[in-house]
Amino acid sequence: MRKKIIAGNWKMNKVLSESNQFVNAVVGKVPDSEQVEAIVCAPFPYLSSLVEKTNGSKVKVAAQNMHFEDNGAYTGEVSPVMLKDLGVSHVVLGHSERREYFAETDETVNKKAHAAFHHGLTPIVCVGETLEQREANETKNHVEAQVKKAIEGLSDEQVAETIVAYEPIWAIGTGKTASSEDANEVCSHIRNVIKEVTSEAIAEKVVIQYGGSVKPSNIEELLSQSDIDGALVGGASLEAESFLQLVEAGT
Ligand code: G3P
Repeated sequence: MRKKIIAGNWKMNKVLSESNQFVNAVVGKVPDSEQVEAIVCAPFPYLSSLVEKTNGSKVKVAAQNMHFEDNGAYTGEVSPVMLKDLGVSHVVLGHSERREYFAETDETVNKKAHAAFHHGLTPIVCVGETLEQREANETKNHVEAQVKKAIEGLSDEQVAETIVAYEPIWAIGTGKTASSEDANEVCSHIRNVIKEVTSEAIAEKVVIQYGGSVKPSNIEELLSQSDIDGALVGGASLEAESFLQLVEAGT
C-alpha cells in the first residue's frame, strides 16, 4: 500500500522567526506512523535552519524550485548540489506559479527532474489545467502531456520514486476544490499514463497528490479516493495546528 504524503507549500510566506515557530510547534507532534510522511516546502533562506531543526524528526524539508545545472553563471539561482549539501530531501518542480510567472516549461521540469535524481533529491512534479482547459474538456490531454514530458528519460525506479502533484490551477488559493471524484479521475488518469510509459508495478508505486484549496475539512474525503495518495497544500499549511491536522488525516 502506498503511504500518504502531505506536503505544505509555504510559497513566498513567513519570516525566519515564523518559520522557527512553526517548526518548533510541529516537530515531535507529527504522528509516528509508517503510513504518512510530512514535508515542509519552504523558501530558500529557511531551508538550512529547517533541516537542522527537523533533524531526527518525521518532518522532511523541500525546496520550492531549483536550477537544473550544478553550478555556474546563473545569478539568483539555486542548484541541486546546494540543496543536497544543505540536507534537503525533496524539491517541488513545475508548480503552476513557476510556469506562469517564471517561464518554467515541461522541458525545464524534465531537466530538473533528472538533475534532482542525479543528486539524490526526490522531485514533487506539479501538473494541472487552467479553467479554460477544463471547460474545453482538455484536462486529461493536458495533464498527460505534462506528466509524459516530466518523466521522459527517467529510469523506471526513478519514476516510481517521483511524487506527482495534480493541482488544477483554478482550485489554487481560490477556495474552490475539485470534487474528490473529479480529482480522483485525473489522478487515476495520471497513474494510467505512467503505467503506459513504464509498467503497472511501477505506476502502482507512484505517490500522486492532489493540491488546490485542501484544508482540514476536506482532506479526509480527498484521501479516501483510490488514486489520491496525499496533498500539496498552500494556505492551510501555514499554521502549525492546521498542518498537523492535515498530516493526521493521512494516518
Ligand atoms: O502547492 C500548493 C498549492 O498551489 C495549493 O495552494 O492555497 O490552494 O492550498 P492552496
